Amino acid sequence: MKKIAVLTSGGDAPGMNAAVRAVVRTAIYNGLEVYGVYQGYKGLVENNIKKLEVGDVGGIINRGGTILYSARLPEFADPKVRQIAIKNLEKLGIDGLVVIGGDGSYRGAMELSNEMSIKTIGIPGTIDNDICCTDFTIGFDTALNTIVDAIDKVRDTASSHERAFIIEVMGRNAGDLALLAGIAGGSESLLIPEKREDISDIVSRIKAGEKRGKKHSIIVLAEGVMGGQVLAAQLKELTGEEIRCTILGHIQRGGTPSAMDRVLASRFGNYAVQLLLAEKSGRAVGIQNNRLVSTRFEDVFSNTHEVDLTIYDVSKQLSI
Ligand code: F6P
Repeated sequence: MKKIAVLTSGGDAPGMNAAVRAVVRTAIYNGLEVYGVYQGYKGLVENNIKKLEVGDVGGIINRGGTILYSARLPEFADPKVRQIAIKNLEKLGIDGLVVIGGDGSYRGAMELSNEMSIKTIGIPGTIDNDICCTDFTIGFDTALNTIVDAIDKVRDTASSHERAFIIEVMGRNAGDLALLAGIAGGSESLLIPEKREDISDIVSRIKAGEKRGKKHSIIVLAEGVMGGQVLAAQLKELTGEEIRCTILGHIQRGGTPSAMDRVLASRFGNYAVQLLLAEKSGRAVGIQNNRLVSTRFEDVFSNTHEVDLTIYDVSKQLSI
């Protein structure tokens, strides 16, 4: 292993920069040359690849987003498009590729590792925490803290106006962000795709809360369940009350990465390069019970990420 490349792909996540820094510095520490691929797979196809030095990743550990830029490239599913990318890597004499991203990015990485001799390792970077075989993904903790901060703020106004508020959070088809934010934000109701709740239960909760003199209600809704505005209209119809909805949107993807995300990303980046140095390929790094692990891409895809529903039960008991 002499030359490696690193790219970030799919939705950006706070902490991706810390992972890029860790890959670059671990590579250089171990005597490797390292290249940054700009704009994810798009940059791989368009040959937007530049050599990186230690200083190029200075001052980025605390920055959200990704200095390598990111893009979604559906065309990468086409083997002919991937061949262009492989040729570009071969021209530069790259032996190893680190892909930082979510499951869409992993699919590209898995195909590449099956089609070329260049070794490929994935690092889970997405706020959704929806990747199997790792307890946490880079960006999840920061996004979670952003959501909880928003819930605290919305609660102030919900309380002043004695209103119910829906807070719609990201997560694609996974409820992890909503679940943990619901617990940490002390929400009265929580809707996640993994545990469908009848709308009449939410109405009963709002009514029961009012009976006990509760002045407001916070409903945390995962985007994978339904749109917040639609739910607000339904609840208004059933309760006859004004229900407001706040869709947090992309603010959840930005901001300074939390200390936990920086540490996780640094460990993942370092471990990914260690795996390449050991000539491993076609694997994704992860963390399980605070231990670094690596899993074959095929196994990542043949297992499903599961949200911890015992936490859901805890939230039910605490939000009475
Ligand atoms: O995967 C990260 C994520 O932010 C999801 O939570 C969300 O559903 C999606 O990306 C939004 O994608 P885009 O930025 O392309 O609108």
